[in-house]
Amino acid sequence: MKTTIKLLAFAVFALILGSCGKKEDQDFNKSTPEKAATTTLSPTEKGKEIFEGKGTCATCHKPDVKVIGPSLIDISKIYKEKNASIATFLKGDEKPLVDPTQFEVMKANFALTKTFTDEERESLEAYIHSFSK
Ligand code: HEC
Repeated sequence: MKTTIKLLAFAVFALILGSCGKKEDQDFNKSTPEKAATTTLSPTEKGKEIFEGKGTCATCHKPDVKVIGPSLIDISKIYKEKNASIATFLKGDEKPLVDPTQFEVMKANFALTKTFTDEERESLEAYIHSFSK
């Protein structure tokens, strides 16, 4: 009888140990790809993603040449000179500083940039300033 209890206790003990080990294994396996997917992007990297993706900004803005909109180098330079905030401009309540004659074209994008979070607008600003010389 005593031996049976001992054996049983041992079996339970082994089971607990075993299942703990398994759980750790599973957690480890699960956390690896998750970590890779949520690797935190820097604001500049996030800004690039939005600029080329859902922001569609890249259609009109290139880093170093004027296309439909001014180049990012020019935008960054002027905003730095005037100590102004691109993130605030993208909220839609600021006057244009770069090319007021073409403001109507840019204004149409506020419908989209107003739906972004402050963090997203700030990452766009970081991305644009990454081209300053
Ligand atoms: C349809 C073309 C077009 C798209 C798309 C576009 N822009 Fe523009 N953008 C312009 C034009 C044209 C100007 C020049 C007018 C002006 O300075 O406001 C401009 C100006 C700007 C300026 C300078 C504003 C100022 O103070 O004069 C910033 C900053 C800017 N765009 C950021 C963005 C960002 C960020 C996006 C994406 C969310 C974007 N633009 C998408 C055409 C566009």
